Amino acid sequence: MIAPVSPTAWTRKHLLGLEDLSAAEIVAILDTAESFSEVSKRSRKKVPALTGRVVFNLFFENSTRTRTSFSLSAKRLSADTQDFSASVSSLTKGETFIDTARNIEAMGADVLVVRHPTPGAPHLLSQHVRASIINAGDGAHEHPTQALLDLLTIRRAKGKIDGLTVGLIGDIGHSRVARSNIWGLLKLGAKVILCGPPTLVPRGFERLGCEVAHHLDDVLPRCDVVNALRIQRERQERGLFPSLNEYFQLYGITGERLARAKPDLLVLAPGPINRGVELTTEVADGPQSAILDQVTNGV
Ligand code: CP
Repeated sequence: MIAPVSPTAWTRKHLLGLEDLSAAEIVAILDTAESFSEVSKRSRKKVPALTGRVVFNLFFENSTRTRTSFSLSAKRLSADTQDFSASVSSLTKGETFIDTARNIEAMGADVLVVRHPTPGAPHLLSQHVRASIINAGDGAHEHPTQALLDLLTIRRAKGKIDGLTVGLIGDIGHSRVARSNIWGLLKLGAKVILCGPPTLVPRGFERLGCEVAHHLDDVLPRCDVVNALRIQRERQERGLFPSLNEYFQLYGITGERLARAKPDLLVLAPGPINRGVELTTEVADGPQSAILDQVTNGV
């Protein structure tokens, strides 16, 4: 049986970001996810919650985890699902982004899950279609469902979020995962430390209520949770840090560094992970890693 969710009703049509959500709304989503997670453990992994609904995945950027977890979860809730790939669509023949979405909506889509390289693209669509829009990552702006699954993973492992110290490590400036995590963690009462090279951690983030730091060895022993963000290799070409090897020496999460951290430090990474850059294989596959729990909780 599905357990009842928290009393706060979800009244929004779209999920565009965590910046606009209240703490109560975030908790309502986490509690709902918690009640549905039991479905994934059944031998028959299906409930009728979305019977008759049509969910389209509109991905204008590559994805392993997000696209498949949306597809799978919609199927588990009995929705009809359809994947759309920009590279083989009529976008290549001049169709606009909005016309593409309108075509898909005309086929009866109730929900459009949208990933797009341009910040604000899902917000724009929400003004042009009647379907509900879920932001699956828009440029460097927000990745709300990644942050929600991170919050769920932390809450499950630690029993709470309020009062925890969470380090977000690496390329904060270009990271939609960082932005959504910052909003979600602060709203639920965590302390957030952003740590990375000065070129990747702009100081403006302090205004949001985060601590900004550049020395991982000072930061890590204070953390209850560390989230090793993906280093986007394409940044290297723009000279934002000298080399992947130097990044690893200064900011890589290693077994040696874990030995100097709290013994119950929880290690997260949004994926796709770069082994030997953000963290070692020993850490990624070790007992403190919750990386695959994050993937499970994404569904
Ligand atoms: N974490 C994440 O969004 O992964 P994908 O890019 O594979 O969806």
